[in-house]
Amino acid sequence: MKEESRLVEKTVTKELPESIRGEVVFDNVQFEYPSRPGETTLKNLSFTISPQKMTAVVGDSGAGKSTIIKLIMRMYDVKEGAVYIDGHDVRDVSLGSLHNRISIVPQTPDLFNASVKENIAYGVDREVSMDEIIAAAKLANCYDFIMKFSNKFDTIVGNRGTQLSVGQKQRLAIARAAIRKPQVLLLDEATSALDAENEALVSTALEKLMIGRTTIVVAHRLCTIQNADEVICMKDGAVIESGRYAELIEKKGGFFKLVQKQMTAGE
Ligand SMILES: Nc1ncnc2c1ncn2[C@@H]1O[C@H](COP(=O)(O)OP(=O)(O)OP(=O)(O)O)[C@@H](O)[C@H]1O
Ligand SMILES: [Mg+2]
Repeated sequence: MKEESRLVEKTVTKELPESIRGEVVFDNVQFEYPSRPGETTLKNLSFTISPQKMTAVVGDSGAGKSTIIKLIMRMYDVKEGAVYIDGHDVRDVSLGSLHNRISIVPQTPDLFNASVKENIAYGVDREVSMDEIIAAAKLANCYDFIMKFSNKFDTIVGNRGTQLSVGQKQRLAIARAAIRKPQVLLLDEATSALDAENEALVSTALEKLMIGRTTIVVAHRLCTIQNADEVICMKDGAVIESGRYAELIEKKGGFFKLVQKQMTAGE
């Protein structure tokens, strides 16, 4: 927390408007991580993510999926090209306003050694009522397990949430995302397997949260994205295919291979 950010905010930034539609554009983005100069992680990446639709990003491990999510949040700056939200270059708007419009459910959610309630309301820059916290917990399918704790919403979750199961942590992260009522929702699905019950609880929570929002899901379980409006398939930092699920299956290209590989691995 003491670490200084390498990002330089412009001295004059504008606020990202409150009522954005939630269109996300990558325009010829080239990116390398500051710790690995010379190693291109994203190569001339261009795509448009439609507002209020669900877009799934898929690809092998290391393809650059989580990196895309990080660039939308402007955790790093691109080397070439630009990332736009509703036509605003993310470098031109204040980080505060950018992060207020976007919620992220990260691949490994970080919880704080504080109460369940504080973890859900964390980072919201306004007063949050207990009713709102309860509503977010219900939407995220957290309410039942929280009410089983003897201290309910005052239960302390342990360092990094160690006193919760993986599925419970994910659902708390979803509640945290929900309470912000974001226009853009980023979900970086956990690679760790959940049991069938938790998996169903997590995915129904997400489905409820997605309604009316631009949702970008990094998906590992390809069976869960059949309803996506658009699938972006990546390999080695580039988009190799994009289109609807059924279209890409029919094409029998890179996405088809990925699905096949997963089906044989699951057998
Ligand atoms: N913080 C970092 N510093 C340096 N390199 C990184 C960092 N994070 C990721 N990378 C590298 O960038 C590339 C893309 O990583 P990324 O995390 O985007 O992959 P991914 O598609 O999300 O993979 P997975 O499915 O395993 O989550 C990888 O080669 C990875 O080693
Ligand atoms: Mg990842």
